[in-house]
Amino acid sequence: MKQVSYDEVIEQLSFKESIQVMKDCFNDHENGTIAQRERMVEILPDGKDKNVFALMPAYLGEKRYFGAKIITAFPDNHSLNLPSHVGEVMLFDSQNGLPVALINANAITWIRTAAVSALATNFLAKEDSSILTLLGTGQQASSHLEAILCVRPIKVVRVYDLNQKAAAAFIERMQANHPELEFINSNNLREAVEHSDIVCTLTPSKEAFLEADFISAGTHINAIGTFTPTTRELKSELMVKGKVYIDDYEAALKESGDLLIPIAEGLMKEENIVGSLGELVTDKVAGRANIEEITIFDAVGLAVEDLCCAEYIYKKLK
Ligand SMILES: NC(=O)c1ccc[n+]([C@@H]2O[C@H](COP(=O)([O-])OP(=O)(O)OC[C@H]3O[C@@H](n4cnc5c(N)ncnc54)[C@H](O)[C@@H]3O)[C@@H](O)[C@H]2O)c1
Repeated sequence: MKQVSYDEVIEQLSFKESIQVMKDCFNDHENGTIAQRERMVEILPDGKDKNVFALMPAYLGEKRYFGAKIITAFPDNHSLNLPSHVGEVMLFDSQNGLPVALINANAITWIRTAAVSALATNFLAKEDSSILTLLGTGQQASSHLEAILCVRPIKVVRVYDLNQKAAAAFIERMQANHPELEFINSNNLREAVEHSDIVCTLTPSKEAFLEADFISAGTHINAIGTFTPTTRELKSELMVKGKVYIDDYEAALKESGDLLIPIAEGLMKEENIVGSLGELVTDKVAGRANIEEITIFDAVGLAVEDLCCAEYIYKKLK
């Protein structure tokens, strides 16, 4: 069985490639040729109410592969100099059931999540988007920057993190890779997002913090950070104000607090969801219609994304 390390995943799967892999993945998912089971996401009974263990299975078809991502999320790991999301994707051959690869899931998660956001951004953000705001400057911030640079002509990157030191260190690292970009470390949330073209929320916040009146007309938001029914980043009024798209109906309506809380409050209905990424990719629904509307892509993350990336990497290395 092949073992693929974090560095090998990064070497084999560029952001450009991963956006195409995700486009194919959402196309296949929408057409029903690949499938996933409901994932298991358990908060560990360690009394901390934040450490998560997840098992995410998916099947890519008879002549392809199947398997699962097995991963943990320990938000405080950074204080130990460890990544917050660690685990493996285990890939099996669909023709004979043999395990063929164990692939670093931290790297796949880092890349695929941002690639999915970039794919959605390509349908939903203004063509000339030049200002990107990253809320949260952990692992996902750097991959979101790289992936969104693949689809929009970003010139200015505003960052905001509750941990100012993390934001400053992030800017130092990213500025070295991208001297052409202007980075702004904002200690004010409203200033960070006002008149921004694209906002990515990349935090494990338990409380909604992004207010509707902070967001200007024409902004596209990728709401990525939370994936349980009781946690969210966007206030209900913002969800109501925006045109909402999701990664997958079934998963979003089970797991997304950004959606489920305003629905429970009676402020939103399931029918208010404009479409899924699969529907965008297959032209079943339209993306941005004008330069005024606020669009929101709410993603909880799907097992099919992980398995499609794992298959792509394995086939390249085999
Ligand atoms: N939807 C998906 O597919 C998907 C995939 C991967 C990760 N995630 C989630 O995305 C989030 C970010 O992932 P990561 O790996 O970058 O996490 P991380 O732990 O590396 O970084 C999170 C950062 O957010 C900051 N933060 C926390 N609360 C904040 C707030 N209210 N305002 C501003 N900053 C705040 C923290 O200080 C930290 O720097 C996590 O919650 C993770 O579980 C979602």
